[in-house]
Amino acid sequence: MAITPDTRETLVLGIETSCDETAAAVVARSPAGHGRILANVVRAQWEQHRRYGGVVPEIAARAHVECLDEIVRQAMGAAAIGFADLAAVAVTAGPGLIGGLLVGVTTAKALAMAHGLALVAVNHLEAHALTVGLTEGLRPPYLLLLVSGGHTQLLLVRDVGRYRRLGTTIDDALGEAFDKTAKLLGLGLPGGPAVERSAVAGRPERFALPRPMLGRPEPHFSFAGLKTAVRHQAQALAPLAEQDIADLCAAFEVAAAESVADRVRAAVATAAAELEPRRHLVVAGGVAANRRLRAALAEVAASAGYALNVPPPALCTDNAAMVAWAGAERLARGWTDGLDVPARARWPLDPDAAPALGFGRLGAKA
Ligand code: KG4
Ligand code: ZN
Repeated sequence: MAITPDTRETLVLGIETSCDETAAAVVARSPAGHGRILANVVRAQWEQHRRYGGVVPEIAARAHVECLDEIVRQAMGAAAIGFADLAAVAVTAGPGLIGGLLVGVTTAKALAMAHGLALVAVNHLEAHALTVGLTEGLRPPYLLLLVSGGHTQLLLVRDVGRYRRLGTTIDDALGEAFDKTAKLLGLGLPGGPAVERSAVAGRPERFALPRPMLGRPEPHFSFAGLKTAVRHQAQALAPLAEQDIADLCAAFEVAAAESVADRVRAAVATAAAELEPRRHLVVAGGVAANRRLRAALAEVAASAGYALNVPPPALCTDNAAMVAWAGAERLARGWTDGLDVPARARWPLDPDAAPALGFGRLGAKA
């Protein structure tokens, strides 16, 4: 059934191509700042990447080129609107895989130019960070845990456009650790859900895996050592029976959840002073779908006097509704971009944040 647009609402088309999902969505924002989704189309590319065991940037970019026009058409059709009804086109301009970003940004620029629309370049992390505004009407400030395939960060969301990074990962992102664990145990892609499914039948106490960074005062993360510990256990047991895999998945999941819970515990005290009197812990990104992690975070939130807000799983993983919403929020503040706005592979939300422990030539990955 078509939804009739309210003429006082601002309609924004969102485009997302930063990794391996091609997505387009239409979101409406009322003058009072309420949002609703008119259309939300996501096409995952797992089939194209499966035989390589991970996302191949060139294949991702080509897949975006091949289907983005069609995905935009589908979103506009599902929203039952024409381009003349839109106020703006919002597009993820970074951070992410540069080939895919260029596909999205170029398409958004062409649409903006052809239809006389405002253009809003959206930071993918900001889109994740603001999703609770769309789903629950929750406004900053709040503490955000962003856990995805590419990012693991704790951020103080002070306002739209104002972020302070409290913690980041010094090696792998949490989703990446799930994906690599799945790969080394011979489970399919996407890895996170595969590990979670296998872990249901597992006995986590069978293996003593490390809890990285436990007790450190700075709320940074590390998962590479945990992943390596799983590999050593797997090598020692090879060939693996199904029960071995389930036990390793469960042990990995418990260790990861405990490590993250400990890191969030380290951040809640710092954040509380800025958040009073409304303490909210928001979790976003694909790994937020993980039930064991959610349960661990619910405990941390409850004991620290925080409310826990997690968007529904379909809006935790990459989608364009969050991009359209972040675009609508920026547009409402008069923040638009010129047709010369670049795509950026790296684009930190808090450019002032010091590199975490100075790992590697470029500092921490995030
Ligand atoms: O936010 P997202 O869709 O894409 C990025 O921006 O990276 O997150 C994808 C990540 C993948 O690493 C995937 O394995 C992980 O989220 N993931 C999960 C679960 N569902 C997705 N990890 C653990 N448990 C899950 N249920
Ligand atoms: Zn993401």
